[in-house]
Amino acid sequence: MQYGLKILGTGGYVPPLTVSNEEFAAIADTSDEWIRSRTGIGERHFADGESSLDLAAQAAHRAMDDAGAAPEQIGVVVCATATHEYLFPSLACRVAQALGLPEQVLAFDLNAACSGFLFALHTAQCLLGERRDAYALVIGSEVLSRITDFEDRSTCILFGDGAGAVVAGLGDGGPTLFDSGAIGGTQVLSCPSGLTARNPFASVQELPQRPRIHMDGREVFRFAVDSVSASITRTLAQGGLAPGDVDWYVCHQANQRILKAVAKRLDIPLERFFCNIGHRGNTSAASIPLALDELHRSGLLRRGQRVVLSGFGGGLTYGSLYFIW
Ligand code: COA
Repeated sequence: MQYGLKILGTGGYVPPLTVSNEEFAAIADTSDEWIRSRTGIGERHFADGESSLDLAAQAAHRAMDDAGAAPEQIGVVVCATATHEYLFPSLACRVAQALGLPEQVLAFDLNAACSGFLFALHTAQCLLGERRDAYALVIGSEVLSRITDFEDRSTCILFGDGAGAVVAGLGDGGPTLFDSGAIGGTQVLSCPSGLTARNPFASVQELPQRPRIHMDGREVFRFAVDSVSASITRTLAQGGLAPGDVDWYVCHQANQRILKAVAKRLDIPLERFFCNIGHRGNTSAASIPLALDELHRSGLLRRGQRVVLSGFGGGLTYGSLYFIW
């Protein structure tokens, strides 16, 4: 019997504040036309007082509701985030407490930037192998507006805040296939933490910098199209499948043109790539679960359909996960 991931429920949450492209044009040398045509983004949501715990707990609560899962059924909580307010405790521990999960839950955070949710879901699947009776709560949550450089017009227009979550268990509905990669390097895409390396007694101290995203957009674009296309192909090949065998592609929502280029390279109609970047922007680790939740709630996703989740991000990292919905 092949035990694969079974996603039992999804949830998503974005803070109510919406910021349009026109509002960016009022603070930076940009325009709605430039942003839409280069990225597909029309608006995004920003936290205005909400913490990453607020976003994550809302999404998790909705996923548990959708799955019909009780708190005592959750044995694992993995939270993918790079923007939690605390270095510790982890966001996963705080969500577990906020949702009244059992003390014996295994709860921790994982940071793989925009690939974080994929890696968290794969990690949860591995951990569920030890606890077949339990469910995993897997969350991607980001408040990117905290680390966005609003003086850099080429990056600030891309990002948004939000959280997405799934409740997953193991089932005998079919195999789950996974592929991942990590290249390393800080040149193309990074966000320094602001922590300094000087010893505390040194006469000259570095001033801590607020963390800000640095990005070489063209390089990221090239890396994204190459790595996502190749990773999807490798993932499917593990199961003797071809890109055309998949019903839905739910990819990291970074740029609509990246999705178009991947669809073209795989020779798949763009309609099979679910896209919600127009009203969400790039929400990093939250983007795939937010998109999956929207696809699920739209009624378009039917049980038994074949799904690929795929993404890329800081690290540089990438990954793909195939499963049966
Ligand atoms: N408004 C108007 N003009 C802008 C702009 C903005 N917001 N941002 C950049 N420009 C300008 C540039 O300064 C440049 O001007 P120049 O030709 O006078 O030098 C011009 O537009 C073209 O810049 P370029 O960087 O080549 O644009 P692009 O077509 O590559 O689009 C990105 C820029 C960032 C949208 C695109 O590279 C991208 O999306 N990359 C991937 C980023 C990503 O996915 N990041 C997240 C990773 S998880």
